[in-house]
Amino acid sequence: MRKVVLVTGASSGIGLALCKRLLAEDDELHLCLACRNMCKAEAVRADLLASHPTAEVTTVQVDVSNLQSVFRASKELKQIFERLRLLWLVSNAQDNPLKKLKKSHTFVFSLRKVLHMFSTAEGLLTQEDKITGDGLQEVFETNVFGHFILFRELESLLCHSDHPSRLIWTSSRNARKSNFSLEDFQHCKGHEPYSSSKYATDLLSVALNRNFSQQGLYSSVVCPGTVLTNLTYGILPPFTWTLLMPFIWLLRFFAHAFTLTPYNGTEALVWLFHQKPESLNPLTKYMSATTGFGNNYVIPQKMDLDEDTAEKFYQSLLELEKHIRATVQKSDDQS
Ligand SMILES: NC(=O)c1ccc[n+]([C@@H]2O[C@H](COP(=O)([O-])OP(=O)(O)OC[C@H]3O[C@@H](n4cnc5c(N)ncnc54)[C@H](OP(=O)(O)O)[C@@H]3O)[C@@H](O)[C@H]2O)c1
Repeated sequence: MRKVVLVTGASSGIGLALCKRLLAEDDELHLCLACRNMCKAEAVRADLLASHPTAEVTTVQVDVSNLQSVFRASKELKQIFERLRLLWLVSNAQDNPLKKLKKSHTFVFSLRKVLHMFSTAEGLLTQEDKITGDGLQEVFETNVFGHFILFRELESLLCHSDHPSRLIWTSSRNARKSNFSLEDFQHCKGHEPYSSSKYATDLLSVALNRNFSQQGLYSSVVCPGTVLTNLTYGILPPFTWTLLMPFIWLLRFFAHAFTLTPYNGTEALVWLFHQKPESLNPLTKYMSATTGFGNNYVIPQKMDLDEDTAEKFYQSLLELEKHIRATVQKSDDQS
């Protein structure tokens, strides 16, 4: 039976590079591209099938910042994969909240600070967030809650104690405890929604492992490093990155977080593909890294979190889910 891998945000950047690398490893794979833009998804599908004709590639439309869309896509996925076992769900999609450089930023010429700043974006950016049609913070819904609901809807496909399945979250080095609060987990009041949402995915991954590993579902977190994609081109235009490139190549001898290409950025994801999920530490984040000479490797790093907070956050998400489902039910009853 073919292995099935579902990737959100597969139309560009790291998600697309992951699909290509996974097919290069196993061209019998069944890839499911979960994308919000079907024109892009179909173009990617045609491209992947042209280079890997023995693979099976399906597409499904989903906008993870719209819960109706997530429910509709889940229904479609349950029909498609009724008899197949979904092995991997890679939660990768994210909108681009990183709009501009902080205007008041003053550069401090300490190599350590510059390396840290460029590899985590900490202190470099202002971020924008807004309320979605579901009444949730957009960055939180896109990066965390939309994917959480997708997982909850597909739970029956993923949880089989006889054959383990995987859930992988594309997190970031930018996930910081100081930017997250259990009382304001949607980050309505703060100015770092991206960092908060990535810390939330780290917590959620730990809680999901604790609650579902007995049922054969294992969750892991990766960081792709700093990769030039639409996300980073939203911070600085491509020509600025090109101008900065000699400096970045030099930095790469000191900080291996500058993976730069989507291919390099998927190193940790592809590495995870080859590991037995039971052997992984749920409290570890797996970071893609590239040396100054261009060699890729994976750095395991203990996450700065505790299991108690992770469980409390998970319970808060379950509460929010209950509330959302009741609202959806009420509006269905009325229509
Ligand atoms: N690039 C980096 O340096 C970096 C560093 C750390 C972590 N990451 C993480 O890596 C992941 C991939 O980012 P990337 O750099 O590859 O960015 P990207 O090239 O902008 O790709 C983002 C993908 O998400 C999709 N997407 C956006 N909003 C969506 C929505 N509401 N519903 C469904 N799909 C949606 C996009 O689809 P469209 O094609 O329709 O826009 C696109 O396929 C993200 O989780 C990001 O936070 C990236």
